[in-house]
This record gives sequence, structure tokens and C-alpha cells, in this order.
Amino acid sequence: MCGIVGFTGQQNAAPILLDGLKKLEYRGYDSAGIAVMCDAQISVNKVTGRIANLCERTKDGEAVPGTVGIGHTRWATHGAPTEENAHPHLSNDGRFAVVHNGIIENYIALREKLIKDGYHFDSETDTEVIVHLVERYYKGDMLEALIKTTNKLQGSYALGVICSEEPGKIYAAREASPLIIGVGADENYFASDVTALVNHTRNVIYLEDGEFAELSPDAVHVYDCLGKPVDKKVTRVLWDVQAAEKGGYEHFMLKEIMEQPAAVKATIAPRVKDGKIVFEELGITLPQLKKIRKIVITACGSAYYAGCAGKYAIEHLSKIPVEVELASELRYSDPLIDEHTLLVVISQSGETADTIAAMKECKARGAKSLAIVNVVGSTVAKLADYTVYTWAGPEIAVATTKGYTTQVTVLYMLALYFADMLDRVDDYSIRLKAIESLPRKIQQAIDINSHVQYLAQKYHGSKSLFFIGRNTDYATALEGSLKMKEISYLHAEAYAAGELKHGTIALIEDHQPVIALCCNPMIMEKTLSNIVEVKSRGAEVLALTFKNNQKILSVADDFMFIPDIDALFSAVIEIVPLQLLAYYVAKENGCDIDKPKNLAKSVTVE
Ligand code: AGP
Repeated sequence: MCGIVGFTGQQNAAPILLDGLKKLEYRGYDSAGIAVMCDAQISVNKVTGRIANLCERTKDGEAVPGTVGIGHTRWATHGAPTEENAHPHLSNDGRFAVVHNGIIENYIALREKLIKDGYHFDSETDTEVIVHLVERYYKGDMLEALIKTTNKLQGSYALGVICSEEPGKIYAAREASPLIIGVGADENYFASDVTALVNHTRNVIYLEDGEFAELSPDAVHVYDCLGKPVDKKVTRVLWDVQAAEKGGYEHFMLKEIMEQPAAVKATIAPRVKDGKIVFEELGITLPQLKKIRKIVITACGSAYYAGCAGKYAIEHLSKIPVEVELASELRYSDPLIDEHTLLVVISQSGETADTIAAMKECKARGAKSLAIVNVVGSTVAKLADYTVYTWAGPEIAVATTKGYTTQVTVLYMLALYFADMLDRVDDYSIRLKAIESLPRKIQQAIDINSHVQYLAQKYHGSKSLFFIGRNTDYATALEGSLKMKEISYLHAEAYAAGELKHGTIALIEDHQPVIALCCNPMIMEKTLSNIVEVKSRGAEVLALTFKNNQKILSVADDFMFIPDIDALFSAVIEIVPLQLLAYYVAKENGCDIDKPKNLAKSVTVE
């Protein structure tokens, strides 16, 4: 996820662009840049790091003359966060500059064709193909050039374009990435969201997919994909900047829970082509895979629990043994790891000290490493032999949600991918269909649990909470319990339901809340008996199960639901009601949900 801005008016553009980019930094902040037009010349300033570096480079924009410009703050997906990869990107002839938010899925083929046709590339990004296509198709009509260009693109884009032969004008185009026009007095804007606009104007036009816009200081024209003018309504934004940054949600955590369908889709979609999973970023050959005797997954916190959830799918489908190890333990355990081990390292930030140390220890013992990370160019990504990005976009809340679900999703895809490579799966298309249904099922899990906030009122004062489950349900219980602890400060414990009778059931007393995960038909009856077991000792049971599961509904006291899903892939669905429960309990307890006490978003120390 990146942020783009554009301005045309009477004022100096650069300071306004920088102000807008600052408001969009939460969308991405590993590099940034602006392109400003003055006397039919486009000047570009780009930096790595935060917007503050760009402000320093341009003396808060005062060193950059011109009243027309575009800007970009980047969350790298294709190409490390370097100045060359930062936007805006210039055409070879210097007449065009482009900024982009989204992912161009067919950029490799487009890049190869453009290079063959003589275009020179300065970056590794998918975006750069756009500016060269615009240059190719521009014959004096920018709208025509933009329509022809976007007709070649597959994927998502919110585009901003300026052309030195179109003084005073900025252009925008939208497909599956948000883009909003700000309507001012003798000046007009565009931005990825209202956050960047509300300081200048609250009158906005929301572009729809397939629409284009031409902005000049005194006019806004919107067109459809055939170049026909479209009449658009101007609406008034009532949000304040704070609320706008969170997309109108009260906390980043809730916003990021709601972003999970899109984040999981962005992680899956570019890796499914012609009914097959393709990991272009992996270079593991069949002989190399056949040499692997075991997979060791290592991580910390929620990333470790993601490994626990993914283990079942990898073992069941690929038949490769999987061990899941806490990085802080693995690094000191003199691990039995060698060249026949594939080390899978999971980290949202890619900067967790224990995880990096464990990774180095295992690499030194000969293991090949495959990183599953969310931050392009992070330390874990750089150290790994292979890197698969989760493409969840920046995760601001300390408690991970979309980071976790996209990590587990990648593990599911790798499970099916390896099984297919080893010719060990005979229901491939059914399994792939189940994986592709995950974004929709996550949305359903959000929609059918709107009552969770009322459940939170019942449980928020509990002294402690038990999360119980078996097999895949147990793996999800581990993450559900951590979510509850780290944002609501309630003590919670995840327990293998079958283990209760071996001691811990001594803690179950009258009104002890027990959250029972019952989403795996294979062991449902067993978990049902555990529910009866704890209820007979006075527990109050909140069951998480399918809507039509009468047996569970007849014994539990409260319920949360998930839609039907292949149990092997249920963790990314099951965790959603538990995320919502933890969120609303924390809200009831008045906790600092996005920044819980004692916690950091990335634990870069041992
Ligand atoms: C998750 O909610 C926690 N904030 C924490 O457990 C986190 O998952 C852990 O520190 C690992 O972080 P990483 O994924 O960035 O390596």
C-alpha cells in the first residue's frame, strides 16, 4: 500500500505535496518523492526513508519552484526501498512523470516488451512500465494515452501523471486502489485518501474503478474508460484527520482487521495463474525439494503461532515433516539442522532480533532459508535464500492481525505448491478453490459476528480466560489467546483441549470463562466432550463453531461463528472472531489498543 498526491493551482506545489505525503505516511514510509513542473520542465526529488528526509532535501519544498506536481510515499512490494525504486518515475524523454499505488501483475511481460522496443528502465519496480507506456501512446492527447496505457495493465492502480506538454494539468486514473479528488478554489488535488486533503478542502469527488480525471486549477473533468465525460457528485468530508488516517475506524487495529479480506486477496491473487499456484520469487527446484527431509519453521509471537497453524496443511498435503520452533529457543538449542532442512522464517517486520539470530544459526548449519515477511528489503528478507512477501501493506497496530492471516495464507499456498511439485496431491483444484475462497470467507466471518461487541461486555471483567481446541483449532487458540492478553491485559491461556484432564482442569471453577474452538469436524466430538467436561465443573463456555453445528449449540452458553471452510485452511477464518473479541474486550477495558503497554511493533533487541 502506498500513498499518492497531486496538486495544481496558483500556490507553490511542493510544500502542499509534502504536507499531503506526511498525512499518508501510515500507508507506506520506506521511500518518497515529488515531481514538480515549472516552465515546461519536470524536476524530480526522491529519497529513501521517511518524508522528513524529502522535506530536508527540498527545504520543505521551498527549493522546488512550480505550481503543478505529484508526490508518492512508498511501501515497497516490487524492488527494495532505494532512491531508484522510489516514485515518481520519469519517462526516457523526461516529458512524463508517474506515481502509482497498487500492483501491476503483468509488469514483467510489459517490461520485456518495452525493453525490446528500446525503452530504458532505471528501477526494478512494476510501476515504471506505466510511464514508458504513457510516453509510447502520447500523441498530444493525455486522456487517450492514459486509456491506451491502462488497457495494457492487469492488476490494481491509483495513478497520478504530469506531462511537460500539458502545463497546469495533472491526471489521475483508478482501478482497485482508492483515489479521491479534492475540489478547491482555483486549485485542485488528488490523493489516496481524504487524510491528505482535509487540511486544504473538504469537498471531494470519489473516483470509481475505470475512471480517469483531468485536473487544472479551475476545472475537474472525469471520464469513463471509453473517454466519455462522467458527471460526478461533490461530497463533503466530515472526518477529522485523525479519523481519516484510520479510514474512519476508531483504531488502526480495527481498520487492519477489516482490511484482511483485501490483504489476503493481495497475497493470493498475483500467485495464481491458469488454475495453478506460482511462486515466481522461489527458485526451489524439484531435486532441491526432494533433498529436504524436514521443514523447520521459526518465528516469534504471532508469527510463531502462524507457523503452528500452517504446519498441519504442509504436513498433510506435502507429507514433509514440519517442526515449529520459537526463535528465542531455537537459537540456543544446538539444533539438528543441516543441508537437508528447509528453514521457513516468518516475520511481519523482518527485524525481530531473535528471529534473525535463529536464522543465522540455522544458515550456518547448512539450511536453505525461505522468508515470509511483510517488509520489502528488511533484514530477514535480505538474509534469506528465498523470500515470499505477504503484501498486507503497512501494519500500524502493535497487535498483528492482517500480518498473521497473510502469513498463514502463504503457508497454505506453499503447502499446496510443494505437494503439487512432489506429485502428492490428487484434489489440487478443490484445495486451491478453498484457498481462493479465503478472502470472501474472512469477510463473512466479520459480517456474522457483529454481536461480538456485546459478548465483550459480558467477558471483559473476567479474571482469566481459557482458550481450548484440538489440532488446527488448538493452533488458532494460541493466537487468539495472545491477542486477548496483549491488548486487553486479561490473563488468557490457550490449552490443548485433550490435555485439560492431565492437571489444568483443576483450575476450572464456577463461571470460569472457556472459549472453545470447534471448527475441525475431524475432532469435533472430542472437543464437544471437553466442553461438557468443563461445564460440569461450572465453566461458562463461549463456543466458536459453524452456524449449523447443533450439537455444540446445544451445550455451550455463548457463540461465535465461522462460515464452512476446509479445516486445513480454517485458521485465517477462525482467528477473525477472536481478534474482534479481543478488540472489543480491550475497548471495554479502556486499553490503548494500538499501542499496548510494554510492547513494541518490532522487537529488535534480544
Ligand atoms: C503480535 O501481535 C505481537 N505484536 C508479536 O507477538 C509479534 O508477532 C512478534 O514480536 C513477531 O514480530 P515479527 O512478525 O515482526 O517478527
